Amino acid sequence: MARVTASGPPETPVTRRAARALREEADGRARDTRSDDARAFSPFVLPDDLVGPDMRPASLARPGGPPAGVFAPRHAGRRRLTRAGVVGVIAVAGVLLAGSTAAVTALVSGAQPAAVAATAPVLEPPPNVDRLPVPRVEQKPVSNDICAKPDVIAALEAHDDAGAILAAGGGEAFRAAVAAGAASCVDLDDPTRLWVVVNKHRQYVPIDYWPAGLMFPDGVRSLEGGSLRSDASAAMTAMVTAAREAGVGEIALLSAFRSYPSQEDTYGRHVAARGQEGADQVSARPGYSEHQSGLAGDVVPCAGTCGSLDDLAGSPQGDWVAAHSWEYGWIVRYADGATDVTGYLPEPWHLRYIGPELARTYHDGAWTSLEAFFGLEAAPNYVE
Ligand code: DAL
Ligand code: ZN
Repeated sequence: MARVTASGPPETPVTRRAARALREEADGRARDTRSDDARAFSPFVLPDDLVGPDMRPASLARPGGPPAGVFAPRHAGRRRLTRAGVVGVIAVAGVLLAGSTAAVTALVSGAQPAAVAATAPVLEPPPNVDRLPVPRVEQKPVSNDICAKPDVIAALEAHDDAGAILAAGGGEAFRAAVAAGAASCVDLDDPTRLWVVVNKHRQYVPIDYWPAGLMFPDGVRSLEGGSLRSDASAAMTAMVTAAREAGVGEIALLSAFRSYPSQEDTYGRHVAARGQEGADQVSARPGYSEHQSGLAGDVVPCAGTCGSLDDLAGSPQGDWVAAHSWEYGWIVRYADGATDVTGYLPEPWHLRYIGPELARTYHDGAWTSLEAFFGLEAAPNYVE
């Protein structure tokens, strides 16, 4: 840079101020001991392009700009600018850093911080966001699997049916679990169990099943020499005794256990009398009769002599049986109004032993068929 010397043109007040400015500029540069490279790369020195015209030295004033010499010397301005720039650049860097951090946070969290909201473009949700699939969490139902109870399994293994029902939580808990499919250990096809269901869809396996422990009930007139399984036999004695003691008269057992061959004869007689379709409404085919289980008995009223099956309905004994047989573990298996389910016309005389626990549940629930009781399909016809 040229230096004004004593040998130069005579100084005017203006030129003297200009010369002083140039000297001050030169002195300022001399005091700035940093290298050009250091200054060039310093983040705290703004390049000339960012320095306003009022900060340029007179020698660098642009043509057409304000007169030289009326502006602050370049380095004085640069030093002021540098201090301000330090604060400004730090502030800018801070804002950028904060903005970047906030932006990242916003991207991660989906939120839009205020600092970003003022400067960053607003991210609108997709127009179809309300149609995005909403994940559904399936709630696992509370398990009522009675077979998860060790006491139920133990009772089943001991062939203690009443104990299994009790361990399940009682008759209704047992029934509900079976009906809900939460009792895989309960086999409704097992003819040795109180809860066996025999109907036109459920044949004995084996078809000629023969129960053990058949006996004649004590104190019960057995007109055809019928026998029952021991538990059912005791329950028949108890019921007939109670009816007698209640003053409703004598109840006799007409027919009880019938073997497969015996049922062939019975069903054959009905077919002969009324044809197969008629017979199927009143008599089970061999292998499909509850009588084969030893858990069913047909009862008749007696007053000196005994009446027929059709004489039971409307008799004192019949009314009492309808009202109280459940108290002894029996149910009227083929109820009025249940033909569409059972496939049989009403038989108020055909009693089926299911034990006191289940019989109470059956009565309390006003059930009219074992099929509905255990949640089974209706079985009005044979599956050919
Ligand atoms: N009378 C009933 C349906 C039977 O034969 O088992
Ligand atoms: Zn019967």
